[in-house]
Amino acid sequence: MSTANEPWGDTVDVEFEDGIAFVFFNRPEKKNCMSPSLNREMYATLHALEMDDRCAVVVLTGRGAAWSAGMDLKEYFRETDNEGDIFKMRIREEAHAWHQVKLRFHAKPTIAMVNGWVFGGAFTPLTSCDLAISSDDATYGLSEINWGILPGGNVTKAVADAMGQRNALYYIMTGETFDGKKAAKMGLVNESVPADQLKSRVVELAKELMKKDPVVLRSAKEVFKRVRFMDWDTANDYIYAKSDGSLFRSGAAFRQGAMKAFLDDKKLKPGLDTYDGDE
Ligand code: COA
Repeated sequence: MSTANEPWGDTVDVEFEDGIAFVFFNRPEKKNCMSPSLNREMYATLHALEMDDRCAVVVLTGRGAAWSAGMDLKEYFRETDNEGDIFKMRIREEAHAWHQVKLRFHAKPTIAMVNGWVFGGAFTPLTSCDLAISSDDATYGLSEINWGILPGGNVTKAVADAMGQRNALYYIMTGETFDGKKAAKMGLVNESVPADQLKSRVVELAKELMKKDPVVLRSAKEVFKRVRFMDWDTANDYIYAKSDGSLFRSGAAFRQGAMKAFLDDKKLKPGLDTYDGDE
């Protein structure tokens, strides 16, 4: 059952735990592949969580054996092959909207908790998450070439960015799989851990993020994602504007308190720890 405030419950599920919203791809019987319905439900879910006080951090993960087996070959591809041009563009826009707009610039910090299969189109939401922790036994593959297409939906751009030219082209062209440890070695995920430590490591990381000033943290990630495509002078100007804007919106109490704790009260070493507001 979904409502306007809780638009999940069919192909997407959410569980709240101490400020973390665990968002599940919820089609385990289909290895969590992404159908047009899932894409719409995921957009609505992520949109709702931005305004939900139960959610300070989003963790994107999958029910069952898969994180996500990519786009749904039946519902996203074959069943839309004979539809009209505008219909097809709509279907693509809906995937793009949650992968590369809502998720990439989500108001809350986002962590991919990679528990299993990751194929094709799933590389875009993976790289749109701010951070990613993988299970060692997760299996990744740019499988498109194995069934006769090239990695679309900006997967090619995402892996060029996240894996580098040699790795990206190798996996784009061979369609070979790799595991979590290899994903970490290439920088596609931050870390890979044994399966039984996956959740505890993700929770630990989420708790660290919750200690920061949320408005400044949001700006920090937005700035990073935008400045890499700007020239130096524009980037410098934009970063100062976003920095001033974030302090205006947050009220800067965190910054003022932290400076006092370090400079006057000598209670904080910001090089080593986060200001906790009580120093
Ligand atoms: N699109 C549509 N259906 C998919 C799917 C996808 N991307 N991935 C899995 N499924 C479906 C299967 O067709 C099967 O459906 P069925 O029960 O109606 O027959 C069901 O999910 C279970 O998958 P199955 O292949 O039986 O599981 P498996 O454990 O043997 O293999 C995978 C798992 C992920 C290796 C395999 O399903 C696969 O190769 N999927 C396609 C991955 C891919 O190339 N994705 C890229 C899309 S861009």
